[in-house]
Amino acid sequence: MSKRLLTQLMGVRRMSRRHILVGLCGLVSLLLIVGLQAVYTGSLPCVVAIWNGPPPNMANRLTNPFQLPAFRGQRSRVHDILTSIPPGSQLGVLKGLNNDENNYKYYTEAKLRQLTACMARGDCHSNAENVVIFAAYHCHLSVFKGYIGGEGVWCNGMIESLERQGYTVLLAKDDWRYVAHIYRQIPELVKAIIGDDSPGSRYGRPRDFFRSEARPDGFPTWKYFRFYYFSTPKGTVISSYWCASAEIEWRQVGMGNYRNNTYLGYALELPEETRTVPWSQRPNRAYILGKRVQYFYKWRAEPFIPAEFITRAYHDMRKEIPDFEFVGGFIDDRTPEEKEKLGEWKVPEGVRQLGKLNASEFDDAVANSKAMVGIGWPATSPSPYRAIARGVPFLNPHILGEHSTADKPETWMSVQHDSMRYEQPPHVYHVEARNYESFFTALRTAMTTPAEPYILPRLRRDAFDERMRNFVHRDWRSEAERILTNRKNGQESELGVDLGMFEL
Ligand SMILES: *[C@@H]1O[C@H](CO)[C@@H](O)[C@H](O)[C@H]1NC(C)=O
Ligand SMILES: *[C@@H]1O[C@H](CO)[C@@H](O)[C@H](O)[C@H]1NC(C)=O
Repeated sequence: MSKRLLTQLMGVRRMSRRHILVGLCGLVSLLLIVGLQAVYTGSLPCVVAIWNGPPPNMANRLTNPFQLPAFRGQRSRVHDILTSIPPGSQLGVLKGLNNDENNYKYYTEAKLRQLTACMARGDCHSNAENVVIFAAYHCHLSVFKGYIGGEGVWCNGMIESLERQGYTVLLAKDDWRYVAHIYRQIPELVKAIIGDDSPGSRYGRPRDFFRSEARPDGFPTWKYFRFYYFSTPKGTVISSYWCASAEIEWRQVGMGNYRNNTYLGYALELPEETRTVPWSQRPNRAYILGKRVQYFYKWRAEPFIPAEFITRAYHDMRKEIPDFEFVGGFIDDRTPEEKEKLGEWKVPEGVRQLGKLNASEFDDAVANSKAMVGIGWPATSPSPYRAIARGVPFLNPHILGEHSTADKPETWMSVQHDSMRYEQPPHVYHVEARNYESFFTALRTAMTTPAEPYILPRLRRDAFDERMRNFVHRDWRSEAERILTNRKNGQESELGVDLGMFEL
């Protein structure tokens, strides 16, 4: 009896122990849930922040005890600490923590925390869970060093457009090992990786990290796009379509050497942000495109418009327009050996040297001109687009080849700004290279014909934004699969020099 009682009692005791355990478990779970909820909704940082004085949203929380703090407006201090990009991440800034080497990681990891925070709160932009990784060295320079050469303009444009439309942009320098490291953590979110493929890079090449049977954690070949400014794509193993370019292909489908790249490009400022000068208020001057004195002379190649044409045109123009002048900002950055061997090279007579200009000074100098003159280099740069957007026509020189016809732009052998070969006056004047009459006629017409500001449709912000959206959301996998299936069946549908087999 007593034994039974004891057993019963023990049973009760065992029961209650179990109950206590269950209760404890429940309590711990509840605490965990509250804790997690607190972390994700941001109320934990709030609590932590009390120790450093109440954060701004505390008052709200105290007066409305049943209401969660408002997260859409104010963020707590700890939230800011967790999600901000460390200051001083620019290249060349004094650092205690090796920022120059790691700035892209600081940037990317802060972005991932920002994404985590908004996903947990449920207030992310609807595009935020689509991630694009940039692994191009030029983008590294444009973000961290303010580089604004052509590639820099392009990178800044793509990043700005994606972020403004709510996408998540991560930066990885050209560090493919790091790309793979990030990718492996959020494979489904990463929609595209745009980056360099440089043999001999100390970080390896994209193909070293492509997903395969042997490397199941790599990123898929079809998520990688080669970063390549010009419309002369090299493409990837899949196709030249996997080459993202800043310039549009001017050849038409069906023409020999047609190159099927993916044109992303960039946009110019909105028309209302473009400072223009009415034609009648501009001085009688023509801006010469190019930052190097060398472009006037035979340096790497012959100029399209040589120095003597410039001086001769200056004198000829002055007979008609007495205050006419050429202007431009030029440097001589030849090597000491080149200077020794080739002698001193000066800006030609008739050109007023404006020296080194920053971006806004350049735009102002161009806006206060009646023409922009191309002399051969640089090829395909953003500057002629900027000039046209200010109502300043571009003189675009071209070379005729053996099979060229003067009035058929598609047959011209070489054009300074390739993708503007179909544009027409008063925005673009085509000039035959090394033909003074052609040059002078175009110059005179440009100097005496008013032109209105014009932004090429493809350079308008809405067109660019749409291209970026289409790029991110396109079903690249299906395209790649179709290509691969055909390829395995011996049917090649693609253009490109690096075509080969790959794994999906
Ligand atoms: C370019 O390549 C893609 C992918 O193969 C293809 O879908 C598209 O039709 C091609 N475009 C042209 C104009 O050939
Ligand atoms: C360029 O320099 C001028 C001063 O000469 C300055 O006012 C302007 O803000 C600078 N612009 C840029 C883009 O740095």
